[in-house]
Amino acid sequence: MSAGLAIAPPRALFISFEGIDGAGKSTHLDAAEAWLRARGAEVVRTREPGGTPLAEALRALLLHEPMDALTESLLVFAARRDHLRRCIEPALARGAVVLCDRFTDATFAYQGGGRGFDLGVLARLEAWVQQGRQPDRTFWFDLPPAVAAARRAAARAPDRFESEDEAFFERVRAGYAARAAAEPRRFVRLDAAQEAESVRAQLLDALQALVAEAGGTERGR
Ligand code: TMP
Repeated sequence: MSAGLAIAPPRALFISFEGIDGAGKSTHLDAAEAWLRARGAEVVRTREPGGTPLAEALRALLLHEPMDALTESLLVFAARRDHLRRCIEPALARGAVVLCDRFTDATFAYQGGGRGFDLGVLARLEAWVQQGRQPDRTFWFDLPPAVAAARRAAARAPDRFESEDEAFFERVRAGYAARAAAEPRRFVRLDAAQEAESVRAQLLDALQALVAEAGGTERGR
């Protein structure tokens, strides 16, 4: 860094992490969080469904109770509403960087793509619940469902979504691809089939680009 220049900490960014189960998001969230903290950002790490006591209670129901796709959709958006009001919006208002493990793209991918639920209804719920709020950037960890399934097999006991078959995850992946195609500026696709170290490098490059774009690069004092 040259004399007289200072690095302004990244501020007030809303970043979501998406991908099918087994894409390795959690490990990469750790790397993003550490990278941002090292640059002086206040980081709020959260997840969906979840992030508040009410939304975490809804999460437990969503992951384990049988229900149809409309009920799933209403519950994820109810959880999201509480999460936005009590956690995400206050964090952004005070200048924190919010790292959210899944957001509304997951609803379009899982309920819309995976379950085949009406995308028009999801779009209306999205508008009501979010009032225009969207992530500033979405990192999409994309990989073939067969590779993700092999990774998941080594992990914990599957929930209602993780126990779905490969065809379901192909539809979820296509759901993400459609959202990414509709909003190419917001989405960054990361090739999550590669080795973890290479995925991490792709992620940190993209994060650096976002922070630079948002004005968090070197600034004169
Ligand atoms: P996680 O295990 O990655 O935390 O996510 C929980 C599960 O919930 C995951 O299988 C995807 C699913 N999900 C939906 O079906 N719709 C949604 O809107 C969200 C946020 C998650």
